[in-house]
Amino acid sequence: KQLVGLVGWRGMVGSVLMDRMQAEGDFDLIEPVFFSTSNAGGKAPAMARTHTQLKDANDVAELAKCDIVITCQGGDYTKEVFPRIRAAGWKGHWIDAASALRMEDDAVIVLDPVNDGLIKSRLAAGGRNWIGGNCTNSILLMGLAGLFKADLVEWVSSMTYQAASGGGANHMRELLKGMGVIYGSVAGELATPASAILEIDRKVAATIRQDVPTEFFGAPLAGGLIPWIDSQLPNGQSKEEWKGQAEVNKILGTPATIPVDGLCVRIGAMRCHSLALTLKLKRDLPLAEIESLIKGGNPWVKFVANDKALTLQELTPAAITGGLQVGVGRVRKLNMGPEYVSAFVIGDQLLWGAAEPLRRMLRILLG
Ligand code: HSE
Repeated sequence: KQLVGLVGWRGMVGSVLMDRMQAEGDFDLIEPVFFSTSNAGGKAPAMARTHTQLKDANDVAELAKCDIVITCQGGDYTKEVFPRIRAAGWKGHWIDAASALRMEDDAVIVLDPVNDGLIKSRLAAGGRNWIGGNCTNSILLMGLAGLFKADLVEWVSSMTYQAASGGGANHMRELLKGMGVIYGSVAGELATPASAILEIDRKVAATIRQDVPTEFFGAPLAGGLIPWIDSQLPNGQSKEEWKGQAEVNKILGTPATIPVDGLCVRIGAMRCHSLALTLKLKRDLPLAEIESLIKGGNPWVKFVANDKALTLQELTPAAITGGLQVGVGRVRKLNMGPEYVSAFVIGDQLLWGAAEPLRRMLRILLG
């Protein structure tokens, strides 16, 4: 069995990865070695069989004994350790959730239901660096793989509704605390049907301005939204917006660049990222054909007919969270012309957006 080093397995993405690996029996196929940045020598989790002590995640010689390393430890760790382990001559496979290496020429952004051909050809050519994509882009491509595979997409305008989990565990807690603070400020009035709604609203507005915590998001998210994600670039895009075109095209590996752009917005969902998309198709196709291409994109597409009752039942974070299905709905032709199509895509940000492509890459390497 191949020795697989696991780093950052205790964090949020890492924990989701461990759960998925257990659910799919991945640990039966590997010899896991658990690493830690803070607790080397401690007890490894129960999945460990021979290597029952945690090893030091900064010990390049220990890491280099592994055939494969999977890290969810974050970009700072990658920037620190990856150059050292390669400089030491390690020829193993590096699978990474962080963005640090994503745009390197020798890295493939892995999303095998969409780009298994690219993964396999780069593997055959000696590729060893396999990086998970940005969550929003992975969800977009999982939802609309059928249209991209058919080379029908001329461009995409992508307006996102991104969940708190994209920021991290602290951000999810901050959202919930904010919700509680707002509720607490008007709980008495809410219990009294005769109380005036504008008086409740005045108190809520003051609470959002003054008392909702903003330490992690930098602005109140509960009861609101934040129309900026990640850092500011000189061209006016946010870094999250820049990733759209850069990563989608790198994942697809297509020779001509498909323009992808839009605004990325943080909303008060827990872990489902959504995208409201405008697509310009290369041809005017009947709607039924567009729908059937989307449905056939991959087995995880959950196509929801453009019907109000079905949309409310099936195309919300409540319906999608915690599962591997990627919802696609609100598909219709737009007033702009017959090639212009709308779609709403929604997926669990921690599953297809982070953990799942990594464990599937591991399976590809195990053969
Ligand atoms: N950058 C994403 C977000 C998550 O903030 O939602 C990671 O892909």
